[in-house]
Amino acid sequence: MAPVKLIALAAMSLVSNILAVRLLGTHFSGQIYTYELNLSNATAGALSISTKTTGCGVTPTWVYLDESTRTVYCVDESWQGSGVLTQWSLDEKAGSAPKLTGSAVTPGNSVHGSLYGGQDGKSFIVTSEYSPSTFTTYKLPITASTKPIQTLQFTMAAPGPRPDRQDKPHPHSAFTDPTGAYLIVPDLGADLTRIYKINKDTGILTVCPAIKSLPGDGPRHGLFNKAKDTLKYYSLNEVSSSVGVYDVVYPSRNSTNSDCLSLVLQQTVSNYGPSVPLGNIYVKSAEIRIVGDYLYASNRNDTTFGFEQDSIATFQIGASGALTFVELANSYSYYPRSFSFNKAGTYVAIGGQTTANIAIVSRDTETGKLGRLVANVNVPPRGTYGGEDGISSIVWDEPEVSHPSI
Ligand SMILES: *[C@@H]1O[C@H](CO)[C@@H](O)[C@H](O)[C@H]1NC(C)=O
Ligand SMILES: *[C@@H]1O[C@H](CO)[C@@H](O)[C@H](O)[C@H]1NC(C)=O
Ligand SMILES: *[C@@H]1O[C@H](CO)[C@@H](O)[C@H](O)[C@H]1NC(C)=O
Ligand SMILES: *[C@@H]1O[C@H](CO)[C@@H](O)[C@H](O)[C@H]1NC(C)=O
Repeated sequence: MAPVKLIALAAMSLVSNILAVRLLGTHFSGQIYTYELNLSNATAGALSISTKTTGCGVTPTWVYLDESTRTVYCVDESWQGSGVLTQWSLDEKAGSAPKLTGSAVTPGNSVHGSLYGGQDGKSFIVTSEYSPSTFTTYKLPITASTKPIQTLQFTMAAPGPRPDRQDKPHPHSAFTDPTGAYLIVPDLGADLTRIYKINKDTGILTVCPAIKSLPGDGPRHGLFNKAKDTLKYYSLNEVSSSVGVYDVVYPSRNSTNSDCLSLVLQQTVSNYGPSVPLGNIYVKSAEIRIVGDYLYASNRNDTTFGFEQDSIATFQIGASGALTFVELANSYSYYPRSFSFNKAGTYVAIGGQTTANIAIVSRDTETGKLGRLVANVNVPPRGTYGGEDGISSIVWDEPEVSHPSI
């Protein structure tokens, strides 16, 4: 019994030391940053910039970390008719900066990127281009001679119900379903969730029927989640500031007329709760994340918690996948464009776009509620009101080896 007790004591003294955690993200002014978070205890910590690197073009907008290979992909939102798509390796050593391993010239204006295809789901990358109304696929790895495999461009006959935002199609992201057989492309301008069937070997996409959102929803991001045994698709609707909950319908084995995945809208809930009408024209919702039985959606420019303090909506996911609004929480930032949770679900890192800050906020794993500000760092330059500047993305970097064992 004594040795066990000793080991337990040793382990306890390890965790009572300052625990360092890393994060990674982009700033629209041209940098990829790595950050270090030192947690003194569950509610207090210090967040600082560890490294700052250029090379992701003039307007880095989105970072994708493939944890198993420690490869980072960075997407450039350049509006100058030319941008870059870059690939980096990220050492596990604390304080390491990402190292550029590949850079390809692109037409620019990409706002999102994710991997798909191949046997491992990592053979190709797809990027979405907001203003050219395109999305583009490339084979990995990225080299100087990388060229698109496919570029799909969309048009529409007339502006949507919110002509200021929906003047034309605006694909805002692209990602696979859980089987990796289909690509989902939320189109903010066209009020559509576009669907493609993936040829895993060639990366070639073939079109499936697109799914209409409610008029004026403006879908931006989305994700799949299994509640009990039911798979649902959740759409973050930027323009209507809401979340759409969809049934996911796979083609039946003996169907002859379709081999497409389909989505059926079951519920739309405002990010402000059931009694608030959809579509506050001043708010631009941005990101959606799920941890356990809770779903979170960030709202830009609602200043619910005061000057430059926007909200994150919390929903509980029921056994059937339906959402129940819980509350709004303070994002401790203005224009929370990006946020992500650590693996344990105990903290959220929030990227305040205009305030150009990273806020670390605690999360109660029982109630799902977001709590107090644990740490914060300002990352100049600040953005401008309504501008595409400031902090663009933030993700955690939690290499398996550095996880404390208790
Ligand atoms: C956590 O650490 C901070 C800063 O060191 C300290 O002020 C605070 O009292 C600590 N809280 C707890 C619950 O130990
Ligand atoms: C975190 O802790 C490390 C090691 O003690 C120290 O070098 C670093 O300066 C600390 N960073 C912050 C932001 O406190
Ligand atoms: C497949 O075909 C069989 C025989 O025609 C039919 O009984 C069954 O309901 C079909 N299954 C589905 C999922 O459509
Ligand atoms: C933010 O909302 C206010 C109204 O609350 C509006 O006047 C302003 O134009 C909006 N600003 C941005 C940058 O969206």
